[in-house]
Order: sequence, then C-alpha cells, then structure tokens
Amino acid sequence: MAYQNIIIETRGHTGLVTLNRPQALNALNEALIAELNEALAAFEADPLIGCTVITGSEKAFAAGADVKEMAQKTYVDAYLGKFLEGWTRISETRKPVIAAVSGFCLGGGLELAMMCDFIIASETARFALPEITLGIMPGAGGTQRLPRFIGKAKAMDLILTGRMMDAAEAERSGLIARVVSPEKLLDEALAAAARIASFSQPIVMMAKETVNRAEETTLSEGSRFERRLFLSMFATADQKEGMQAFIEKRKPSFRNQ
Ligand code: CAA
Repeated sequence: MAYQNIIIETRGHTGLVTLNRPQALNALNEALIAELNEALAAFEADPLIGCTVITGSEKAFAAGADVKEMAQKTYVDAYLGKFLEGWTRISETRKPVIAAVSGFCLGGGLELAMMCDFIIASETARFALPEITLGIMPGAGGTQRLPRFIGKAKAMDLILTGRMMDAAEAERSGLIARVVSPEKLLDEALAAAARIASFSQPIVMMAKETVNRAEETTLSEGSRFERRLFLSMFATADQKEGMQAFIEKRKPSFRNQ
C-alpha cells in the first residue's frame, strides 16, 4: 500500500513509522489511523522485525484527532461509522512499540502515545488532553489510561483544565520513560528498539504481555500468570542459550525459539 500520511522505514530489526501530515501538525484523521494500523500489522507479521518506533516531526508528534474532520459529524455518523474503533489497534500489538515524542503531543496524539509500550520524549515535548476546550472529552482511552500513568489528581487536573504539561513534569509524573535533547530523540528511541529487538522475540513478547496483565487484573492473579509464563520459558531454546552464554562469558545468540 502506498502511504499518504505516514512514512515507513526499517532500520535493522526495527520498524520505523513517521507520522507525516505536517500541514496539520500530524492531526490524526481516519486515513492516517488506517495506514498506521496497516503498517503496524505488516511489522507485526514480519519475523525480522522485533520492535517498532512511532515518531512525528520536531514540532509535533500529533496535535490530536483531526478537528476539521470531526467538527460536522453527527452522533449517527459517529455511531454507524464506528468512530475511534480502529484507534485502539495499536494497544493490541504483541511486539513492543516505542513512541518517540517531540513537540505537541495532544488529545488523540497523547492517547496514541499512551497505547505504545513506553514514551521517550525530547525536552521540547508538550503533553495535554485539551478536548474539554472543544466541548468534548478524550475518547480514545485518555480518561482511562492517563490516571493509570500519573494518578487521579494530576489526570483530573489535565483533563478538566486542558492545560499543557512540559517534558520535565511528564517525566516526574511517570507519563514518560526518558527525556533527551531534541537532536538525540530518534537515535535514543532507535537504540532502545535495537536492544529490544536483539533479545528473544517470544520472550520479549511474553514479558510485554505479562506487564500489561498488571493493568487488568489483581496482584495474585497477575503473579500466577507471570509464574506460568516464566516457567514456560524453560521450554525455549533461547532460555538455554541465554543462560549458557552467561556461564561461558559470551554474547548470547537468540534464535526466537
Ligand atoms: N485537527 C486539525 N487541524 C489541526 C489540529 C487538529 N487537532 N491541530 C492543528 N491543526 C492545524 C491548524 O488548524 C493549522 O492549520 P491551518 O494552517 O490550515 O490553519 C495547522 O495545523 C497549524 O496549527 P496552528 O496554526 O494552530 O499552530 P500553532 O503553533 O499556532 O498552535 C496548537 C499549535 C497549540 C497545537 C494548536 O494547533 C492546537 O491547539 N491544536 C488543536 C489541539 C487539540 O485540541 N487537540 C485535541 C483534538 S480532539 C481529540 O483528540 C479527540 C480524541 O480524544 C480522539
């Protein structure tokens, strides 16, 4: 498929998706989301790809859902068209996805970033859920995911006032994993992705699945789930290789088996 709204590249074993609607600060329209879903599905199906990075431009990761596309929708249009249903596809990816965020990361843009496994941001990043200023509230998971990242008090502050948070506050609050200078952003995200892709793919995927289970279940159920998957890892060749390589003081060579 020829993409109009994103740019797709591979760097070694990493898939790289660059959101590319510069005229609209990468506002997320339905066409962009469809392309993003297709690109993620292709990387997911490619056995050579171990991790994906999603990034935007220096000025904007994404300034939210496309307000111009949404403005005239009726309830029936939105209901029959299943508006926003395709947006959560990214949270169903099994291989890791990193968001590399610079500039504006607002509304649906922040919701998209929060569906990735972690966010690396540049010092210029600005985060907000400004939907309240448009007469709506977040609709792609923002009211549910933001409190899980930063707690109820700060999430209420951001969602009810629509104010922007800078990268330092976002890091202090636990929304983002790392802050780096703007020049280093993409290199840092690609290096993290390359490191993840160098490990055993099934083990990485099981680790991701298990951490995500913590969001959905009780501590005792989650711990049982963890133990079951942990024990199953002893049936893999990569566990044998990883531990043998440690004992022999050499680099492991994982075969995703
Ligand atoms: N949708 C559509 N177009 C957008 C957009 C958006 N979310 N954000 C920016 N643009 C467009 C602007 O309309 C403008 O286009 P024109 O040149 O044709 O006028 C262009 O991008 C550049 O934007 P600005 O001139 O506004 O740039 P700025 O630097 O002055 O301001 C900004 C930047 C503060 C991010 C401002 O553009 C802004 O407030 N954008 C909207 C942010 C927003 O409200 N996002 C939430 C959307 S709702 C949502 O996401 C719902 C959901 O939960 C799914």
